[in-house]
Amino acid sequence: MKLLEKKVCLVTGTSRGIGGEIVKRFAQEGAVVYANARKEGSIDESSKHWEDAYGTSVVPVYFDVTDENGAKQAIMKIKKEQGRLDVLVNNAGIMKDSVIGMISSELMKEVFSANVFSVISLIQLANKLMGRQKSGSIINLSSIVGVEGSAGQLVYSASKGAVAAITKAAAKELAINNIRVNAIAPGMIDTDLFRSIGEENIERNLKQIKMGRLGSTTDVANAAVFLASDLSSYITGQILGVDGEASV
Ligand SMILES: NC(=O)c1ccc[n+]([C@@H]2O[C@H](COP(=O)([O-])OP(=O)(O)OC[C@H]3O[C@@H](n4cnc5c(N)ncnc54)[C@H](OP(=O)(O)O)[C@@H]3O)[C@@H](O)[C@H]2O)c1
Repeated sequence: MKLLEKKVCLVTGTSRGIGGEIVKRFAQEGAVVYANARKEGSIDESSKHWEDAYGTSVVPVYFDVTDENGAKQAIMKIKKEQGRLDVLVNNAGIMKDSVIGMISSELMKEVFSANVFSVISLIQLANKLMGRQKSGSIINLSSIVGVEGSAGQLVYSASKGAVAAITKAAAKELAINNIRVNAIAPGMIDTDLFRSIGEENIERNLKQIKMGRLGSTTDVANAAVFLASDLSSYITGQILGVDGEASV
């Protein structure tokens, strides 16, 4: 029995990294996946590949998550084609580092638009479908730095802390309609985003992980499968660390 058989899922930020792996694992578990990317055509090939490999639907939906109208069109397309939405994964995110003295208002706006405001908008849109059907699972990508804070990453840490608070507040408000809202707080996962900190910092950070290795995108995608599936049907408002016991 596949864990997500016929569940209709929207995953944002799937052109690479954690989002790309979530699409693969969801398709493998039988989900109907609407995979978001911002560059038109960029995931046509991979979507077709997973469709053929796992015999389910993987439909690319192109929009920038900071564009509310684009997100609305995608939700309307899902409503028209499927009549429901079972799972939303707010994965798209950016990391921009800056020491406190150098933080600009442009940087704050850019990071909060991509990492926070888009998450609220998509929860609002998803709730319209999930509220009517009285079920759903929303999974937000927070971060270990959103819980612990990280030097040189005040804005990114704040945005991911906001995602954790959004998760808890939405879980409280939406539980009445059987909509679960949880977050995953990854530690250091081997993706472009993490590698952007540079080799020297990577070596230093590795020493901070008690399990002695970076996380893989599969480690995170498996947690997303669990939270999307009915195995977690009584779990909501939780921030699930996937970090191999890391400290920052
Ligand atoms: N890797 C880690 O160690 C780590 C740790 C904690 C939390 N996280 C969180 O996990 C999530 C995924 O991270 P990752 O490591 O997989 O990052 P990544 O490799 O940089 O991939 C980020 C993805 O998000 C997409 N994206 C960014 N801004 C977007 C926008 N405005 N609209 C649509 N898509 C957008 C990117 O698309 P493009 O290809 O178009 O840029 C890309 O597909 C993020 O929310 C990140 O903050 C990651």
